[in-house]
Amino acid sequence: MTDTTDGPLVQLRPYSESDLDLLRRANTPELMNQMGGVETDEQVVARHERYLRLQREGAAHQFRIVIPGHPEGVGMTGYWHRDDGDARALEGGWSVEAPYRGRGIAAAAVVAMLEFAAAAGETLPLHAYPRVDNAASNGVCRRAGFTLLGELDVEIAPGVVLRTNDWVFELGAGGSA
Ligand SMILES: CC(C)(COP(=O)(O)OP(=O)(O)OC[C@H]1O[C@@H](n2cnc3c(N)ncnc32)[C@H](O)[C@@H]1OP(=O)(O)O)[C@@H](O)C(=O)NCCC(=O)NCCS
Repeated sequence: MTDTTDGPLVQLRPYSESDLDLLRRANTPELMNQMGGVETDEQVVARHERYLRLQREGAAHQFRIVIPGHPEGVGMTGYWHRDDGDARALEGGWSVEAPYRGRGIAAAAVVAMLEFAAAAGETLPLHAYPRVDNAASNGVCRRAGFTLLGELDVEIAPGVVLRTNDWVFELGAGGSA
C-alpha cells in the first residue's frame, strides 16, 4: 500500500484474517515485556479478533509490515482511538521481529503509518508511550518526527503500571513525517 523512499522498501498491509500467525510470532517474552508480558494463546486469539473488529469499526488501524521477500510480514504497526475515554487523542504502536531489527524498518513503517493516518483525514494528535528504558522504541519516535512531552505512568492492565515517555506527532499540523 505504502512505499517509502527513505530507508528500506517497506509496505504496510491492513491487518487481516491471515495475520494471526504474525501476532503469535510477536508473542515472545523479549518483545511482549515492553507491553505487559507474554499472552496465552487464548489472549492472542482474542486480540486478533479485537483488531479485526476495531478495523471494521474504523476505531483502529493495524498493519502488517512487509519487506521484499517477506510477504508473511516482519512486524506490525498501527494506531487507534485511545480506549481510556480520551477522545481527543490517538495512540500508536509498533514491533519488528528480532531478526529484522536495526535496519530502519520500524522507523520507515511508522512514517508510512503516519502518512496513512494523515491521508485518512486524521487530525488528532497521535501519542506513543514507549517505556523510558526502551531505547529502540524511543529511537523510532525520534526518527519518525515525534516530539517528547515528558514522562508518564501508564496503567496498561489493572495494577500493571509502566514508566513511559509521552511522545506526540501532530497529524493536524499539516507537516509530514
Ligand atoms: C522498537 C522496535 C520496533 C525497533 O525496530 P527497528 O526496526 O530495529 O528500529 P529502526 O531500525 O527503525 O531504528 C529506529 C531508530 O531507533 C534506533 N535504535 C534502534 N534500535 C536501537 C537500540 N537497541 N538502542 C538504541 N537505539 C536504537 C535506531 O538507531 C534508529 O535511530 P536513527 O535512525 O536515529 O539511528 C523493535 O526493537 C521492537 O520490536 N522491539 C520490541 C517491541 C517494542 O518495544 N515495541 C514498542 C513498544 S512502545
